[in-house]
Amino acid sequence: MSEPRLSPALQQVPLYVAGRSVEEVRAELGLDEVIKLASNESPIGPSPLAMEAARQALAEAHRYPGVADHELRAKIASQLGHGLSEANLVTGNGGTDILRMIVQAFVFDGGNAIMSQVTFPMYRILAGGAGGEARIVPPQPDLSHDLEAMVERVDDDTRLIFLCTPNNPTGHIFDQATADWLMARLPDHVVAVFDESYCAYVADGLYADSLGYVASSRPVLVVRSFSKSAGLANLRVGYAIGPMGLMSYLQRTRLPFHVGDIALLAAAASMDDYAYQDAHQLAVRRGRDYLVSAMGALGLDCRSGEANFVLLVDPPGGATFVVEALLRQGIIVRGMAGFGLPNAIRITVGNQAANERLIAALRRVVQPAVPVVEPV
Ligand SMILES: Cc1ncc(COP(=O)(O)O)c(C=O)c1O
Repeated sequence: MSEPRLSPALQQVPLYVAGRSVEEVRAELGLDEVIKLASNESPIGPSPLAMEAARQALAEAHRYPGVADHELRAKIASQLGHGLSEANLVTGNGGTDILRMIVQAFVFDGGNAIMSQVTFPMYRILAGGAGGEARIVPPQPDLSHDLEAMVERVDDDTRLIFLCTPNNPTGHIFDQATADWLMARLPDHVVAVFDESYCAYVADGLYADSLGYVASSRPVLVVRSFSKSAGLANLRVGYAIGPMGLMSYLQRTRLPFHVGDIALLAAAASMDDYAYQDAHQLAVRRGRDYLVSAMGALGLDCRSGEANFVLLVDPPGGATFVVEALLRQGIIVRGMAGFGLPNAIRITVGNQAANERLIAALRRVVQPAVPVVEPV
């Protein structure tokens, strides 16, 4: 009997292991109170304005998506400035879908894509799945992208270079001078993908303005998402920004009615929710400072950058042990083996109660009570 023919490239793709869900862990360990600090979700829930827009949009759930896509793109473009218009934007089902579209559009016929070893694993998963070569470049000693080494790996078959800024899981950003240095060295056949899914958290004024490259029609695609700072991870809305020529080509990777109006209208409404945005940013900044100083006080190597997570490097006992020990106490965090760091843990900034619970649990793991030795 003949069998269905499978793609060798797809068969070799490691499945993306998402953070475990609260429900799963609750059922598995029989715990009542489980908190998840593993997927960089909003510490304060979704925007109330977005929820209301979604609720209203449900009344039209029987219809195919209409003008919401066009309206959201126009709204984002007017906020971005740089003379960009809705034709410079393409929406997708989260930043991950946008990354898939980009890889589908550019990685074919033996093309390769360059990326850091310590970054979002979807770049290598998608490039490999498309039959391309993922060129994985070791990071600098501080774990940031080694751009010089990445540029050295470029050849005639290089289609994409992935630049994650702020980088997941380190929080590093590129400043303008660094991005300019890179852009001056990349040949025009290479599309530079600036993944800025966490850009709303950046406070550093030197953060590179990748949209400037788009405005001057360099081969640059910028990826952004409503999952993190807009608190809409479950609605799956992301977008790419790029020069019009590249965008009309990228449109070909979209399906008809690709993103639903409920999600698009909620995303548009979240852009007007300034109270939510302020509260979200404040919670992340305060929570991040708290986690860094509390872990420092425990003698741990906790690094933070310009995003809504921190990175715990080389914890005593090892990352796997600490992840499991926290899980047994009802706290889900993320081991970073799949992100190129086998002995590190990424912890999402939660609300204050969650952050305090994490620190208390961590204290029990790394500073176990010294056993009392009874005199014999
Ligand atoms: C660097 C980076 N890019 C893209 C994404 C995609 O997020 P989403 O598909 O939810 O927009 C994530 C999510 O964790 C991420 O960390």
